[in-house]
Amino acid sequence: MSAGAIGARAVGTLLAAHRGGAQLWPENSLFAFRNAIALGADFLEFDVHLSRDGQVVVIHDPTLGRTTTGTGAVSDRTLAELRTLRLKGRDGKTTEELVPTLDDVAQLAAPTPVRLLLEIKVDARGGRYPGIEEKALAILDSHGMAGRTIVMAFQEETVRRIRTLRPEVSVGGLDEKRDLAEMRSTVEREIDGLRKLGARFIGLHQELVTADVVRQAQQAGLLLGVWTVNDAPAMKRFIEMGVGILITDRPDAAKELLGR
Ligand code: G3P
Ligand code: CA
Repeated sequence: MSAGAIGARAVGTLLAAHRGGAQLWPENSLFAFRNAIALGADFLEFDVHLSRDGQVVVIHDPTLGRTTTGTGAVSDRTLAELRTLRLKGRDGKTTEELVPTLDDVAQLAAPTPVRLLLEIKVDARGGRYPGIEEKALAILDSHGMAGRTIVMAFQEETVRRIRTLRPEVSVGGLDEKRDLAEMRSTVEREIDGLRKLGARFIGLHQELVTADVVRQAQQAGLLLGVWTVNDAPAMKRFIEMGVGILITDRPDAAKELLGR
């Protein structure tokens, strides 16, 4: 595998701008993604949902209230309706930014070296969006981005679906403490399960990541992403542990610590 390719053997810790860099710019906005690319982030991390008319849109929550001028569920609005809204900044003030589509983000990324950490979300009732995996893959393909993307989800069924549809596309699971408690599982078991599924990535909440876990993920051939690490001492610790991808709302600070 060439240096920097997607895989467990990537050299050094890679840097992912979480939601484009949510402590710096309006989250999941094209403005944030453009700035993260200019900063030299290795990955853009972002979240996708389906609009009422089945378009893949980039937004974190299943509802509009927190980050846009709209209200209600993303899945209750057509793309045309979503495009009339504006994103809010961190201060809650309205910006000029629109809710991007996956097509917008893939188009922005395609001419650059940046890679995508694409998280498939569920709807406001916790249900999987029918067909979202096929739609996302088709959009990535139309921009030649499928080979530069890691698709990830908290739902194992979504990981399985990507594996079935396109075994060559990198896919991985996400876990946090609460899920593990609900599933009566452990990090070790999740790593093993993902390895058996043929996944190439595991994204863990920082509370779950120890030097031992880093070793286990490496042994299983999984690239380990740790989220969401925003304070410098923690960033330093995870870089020293040798995590594969540092996922942060502060890509500027991480870049400095990585000596770039
Ligand atoms: O990168 C994984 C992380 O983004 C999962 O949590 O809530 O920020 O989507 P969330
Ligand atoms: Ca996410």
